[in-house]
Amino acid sequence: MIEKIESLITEEQINKRVLEIAKNICKDFKGKEILLICVLKGSIMFTVDLSKRLDAPTEFEFIEASSYNNNTISNGNVVIKRDIATNIEGKNVLVIEDIIDTGRTLKKIVEHIKTKNPAMLKICALLDKPDRRIVDIKADYIGFEIEDVFVVGYGLDHAQKYRNLPFVGIVKMEDN
Ligand code: IMP
Ligand code: MG
Repeated sequence: MIEKIESLITEEQINKRVLEIAKNICKDFKGKEILLICVLKGSIMFTVDLSKRLDAPTEFEFIEASSYNNNTISNGNVVIKRDIATNIEGKNVLVIEDIIDTGRTLKKIVEHIKTKNPAMLKICALLDKPDRRIVDIKADYIGFEIEDVFVVGYGLDHAQKYRNLPFVGIVKMEDN
């Protein structure tokens, strides 16, 4: 069996949507400086592409969370593995995530960021799987809503692979 990636969202579709989202963000932030918080590693591509379309001064920060699941604990416990490195008090923050699945990761990150007292806090996610949601969290900007399928590419991985693909696809197993 070999893994094959079937395209779900093309590079062109992503580019078009990134531009639309960037315009909406600029409208809401009203020309003020935006501190982009990239949630590692999945949102690297999206953060970079989105930042290039923002007609506003920007700064970058990075945060990484990991989720620990095991057979005995069903409610995934999310911990901040790498925190942002600067003081964001009074800044206008945009958290950028790759995908919202159960919502646990984003909820943990957003609650953590809120304790640092930003002036404004908005949430942006490239992909959303609303059917999978377990905790209540809503993004202000969503690229695409998708069904309950496992996707890779454009930052998203399967066992750390496929992050470099310029499109979003579904992993399929096929005979050699
Ligand atoms: P949540 O905490 O359940 O919302 O999961 C969010 C995290 O799980 C994302 O930031 C991704 O890293 C990962 N994830 C969820 N669904 C997918 C997928 O379809 N492909 C790749 N990673 C995923
Ligand atoms: Mg992620």
